[in-house]
Amino acid sequence: MLVRHRTSAGIVGTRMTYATHPFDVVGWDGCLYPYTFNVEDYMPITGKVHQPPPVHQVFEGAGFVVCAFLPRKVDYHPLAVPVPYYHSNVDSDEVMFYVAGDYEARKGSGIGVGSVTLHPGGHAHGPQPAAVEASLGAEAFDETAVMVDTFRPLELGEAGRAVDDGAYAWSWAGRRL
Ligand SMILES: [Fe+2]
Repeated sequence: MLVRHRTSAGIVGTRMTYATHPFDVVGWDGCLYPYTFNVEDYMPITGKVHQPPPVHQVFEGAGFVVCAFLPRKVDYHPLAVPVPYYHSNVDSDEVMFYVAGDYEARKGSGIGVGSVTLHPGGHAHGPQPAAVEASLGAEAFDETAVMVDTFRPLELGEAGRAVDDGAYAWSWAGRRL
């Protein structure tokens, strides 16, 4: 294995040889994961107040990041609001795939297991109406979702347009088309 690292003389490399592959482990403590892994093995980071999406980041590539949201204990400050705050991710488009469980922030929006949402960059979004109130006092969320944020704009292809639920964008307004 060649490990590149910084020194006062610039970037140098050290070649190391191990008896077994260094990724042949039962755990990995870090921010980025070098290989595929079962999303259920991911250990979510939790906090006193709502944690921003980068704490859920598991992969990063050129122009995109992948985050995993897993069943977890939620924010434990007595005044915490466990669902995400409103945001408009101006730097990226955001695709969410709802894998399992109940995604608390999307309650009442028609989103269920198997749904995919696209929140284009700049589109302000957050918990659906009443989801904030419903989340207060919650101790844990039972949700599994995978998110891909892309730093170049995404466009809907033919297959995406064919299954588009035009009412979703209006779910924050509390009305259907
Ligand atoms: Fe978002």
